[in-house]
Amino acid sequence: MIEYKGINEIVLNINGLDREIVVYPHETLLHVIRGQLNLSGTKAGCENGDCGACTVLVDGVPMKACLCLAVEMVGKQITTIEGLKETPIQQSFVEHGGFQCGFCTAGFLLNVHAMLKAHPDADDEIKKEWLNSNLCRCTGYEGIKIAVDTAQDEMRK
Ligand code: FES
Ligand code: FES
Repeated sequence: MIEYKGINEIVLNINGLDREIVVYPHETLLHVIRGQLNLSGTKAGCENGDCGACTVLVDGVPMKACLCLAVEMVGKQITTIEGLKETPIQQSFVEHGGFQCGFCTAGFLLNVHAMLKAHPDADDEIKKEWLNSNLCRCTGYEGIKIAVDTAQDEMRK
């Protein structure tokens, strides 16, 4: 295990590109993504692991970037919302009103995308369990549910 102290030069693979950054060991992935890499689609909500607005994919698995240290991410493939393109769930959110203010949307999209890849036949229980990680302050859950169900149908075709 590498021990990090002081200022560290590291390389993170974000959306398929190697990005060289300089970080202290205590800096979170969320702060690096937004502050250094200017990828503002990842939102800072609670910064406490509760809201899911900061969700990114790490090697395809949804993780809360506010709970990850940037130095822990060396050697992993990180996907932010800027790296998610033309997926059924994005189209479905647009068509079925899966967002209002949009603050929570990137987190939901990445989480649902990963869920439908891992569980193409996810039932309501599985969907509820996965989506419990994300909060929508606008409480637009009905639109989100319809969007998720429709995207799932689309992916099964
Ligand atoms: S900002 Fe990370 S879970 Fe809320
Ligand atoms: S759409 Fe506003 S927080 Fe979810």
